[in-house]
Amino acid sequence: MEYTLTQEAPDQCATDCLVVGIHEHGGLSEAAAAVDRALAGEIASIVQRGDIEGKPGQTLPLLRRVGRAERVLLVGMGVRGECKPSQFKEAVTRALQAATELRAKTVANFLTAVPVKDRSAAWALEQAIVASEEAVYRFDRLKTRTPGRPVPQGCALMNPGLAEDAARTALQNGTAIARAVSFAKDLANLPGNMCTPSYLAEQAQGLAARGGMKAQLLEEAEMESLGMGALLAVARGTHEPAKMIILEYRGRGDAAPIVLVGKGVTFDSGGISLKPPANMDEMKFDMCGAATVLAVLKAAAEMRLAINLVGLIPTTENLPGGSAIKPGDIVTSLSGQTIEILNTDAEGRLILCDALSYAERFKPAAVIDVATLTGACVIALGAQAGGLLGNNEALSAELEAAGRTVADRVWPLPLWDEYQKQLDSNFADMANVGGREAGTITAACFLARFTENYPWAHLDIAGIAYKSGKDKGATGRPIPLLLEFLRGRAQPV
Ligand code: BES
Ligand code: MN
Ligand code: ZN
Repeated sequence: MEYTLTQEAPDQCATDCLVVGIHEHGGLSEAAAAVDRALAGEIASIVQRGDIEGKPGQTLPLLRRVGRAERVLLVGMGVRGECKPSQFKEAVTRALQAATELRAKTVANFLTAVPVKDRSAAWALEQAIVASEEAVYRFDRLKTRTPGRPVPQGCALMNPGLAEDAARTALQNGTAIARAVSFAKDLANLPGNMCTPSYLAEQAQGLAARGGMKAQLLEEAEMESLGMGALLAVARGTHEPAKMIILEYRGRGDAAPIVLVGKGVTFDSGGISLKPPANMDEMKFDMCGAATVLAVLKAAAEMRLAINLVGLIPTTENLPGGSAIKPGDIVTSLSGQTIEILNTDAEGRLILCDALSYAERFKPAAVIDVATLTGACVIALGAQAGGLLGNNEALSAELEAAGRTVADRVWPLPLWDEYQKQLDSNFADMANVGGREAGTITAACFLARFTENYPWAHLDIAGIAYKSGKDKGATGRPIPLLLEFLRGRAQPV
């Protein structure tokens, strides 16, 4: 969708669908009040009758012309002055879904003028774009008959009182974030037979070719000579060649970079420790960490953030081929530490540990890995928050705050030494699994053994990266969180 800014009065907007807010417990937003005047009090009486209560995200279409607008969509925004960031985003998404149902080709959205609790006008503009794009996103390129309604093509957003420059910047930033989210969703929604490790590598090269970034690939032979025995162990079960993708963005001279590591398992069958068949198709989403990292670098470059970034993506399939690793096999990681592979389905940590050791060569200011790592995290936190663990409290606090700001939340779990003993092995330096208890924590304990030389945070996104069921598909999380974090770190040069 194309986004523009408008300063027009609501009843002066030429649009297919004029979107205005209604508050809970009575009260029209400013824009709704203007429409109400143009309709001689009709909105007020609709609210009076109780046809819309104003609960966040509730929608009610008025199928009639107002001024130059073909129709009006009333949208609940909660109690005046109490609209929470997540409620605001939800309301905008619902509004655009309703506009799609109404077959609107263009939308004029005045919800951006509704104040959001503890957030700026620029925030509202940016997040309205992210939330709108969420509503109109479709993945139908593999359908030969495209079902469903065509989505709106143009969206004019009410400038919530920002100076022209600031509004334009917010529009550009919001668009960059929203496009990054759609880019990552596209990659993750592609099936495993199309989105292979080589395909991810091509995507990285494509981003670099468009300028502002450098892409480099490590092939299996190079990984072999470097000693990445843990990553290569996972790759043994498939014919698809594994890759290590290295994507670099320089926006700040020689400053120490932030390294983002993304798990890129393009399909996780479990390997010899084969997963049960139900919902196994969803394991095509096991590269959502990789998609996140590619998308974050893409947006950071578009936004010209004054920061240096390295994206590291270890990528492979996890299949049970004839040469696949077996339970009990012992391999040597890039760090030199040996690992007894007790469960071949705990493959994410095996590819991540070599990438995390490789990260040291960039002398990073911080390393953040992003991975659909454990089913236990889905049980612990559900789809609301990702798991947050690490070795640096300040870094973790920064990430948690960034997530709260953009309603893309993560929540801390402890990483105490006491959990480390669950990884004891009789035959190697460590086992790759730590039993049924505290599965998300023991996975992070494993990674912690490879991240001792820099500030590190681990985001377990197994519960937030994609949805199951009727709305099956990637979410693009935690891209908004990471971009918010990086914007906080970027200093004007
Ligand atoms: N990719 C999975 C984790 C996962 C599970 C992501 C469910 C999304 C939804 C990971 O590779 C895995 O299989 N983890 C195992 C670890 C176990 C063997 C210790 C798990 O969580 O069951
Ligand atoms: Mn697995
Ligand atoms: Zn996996």
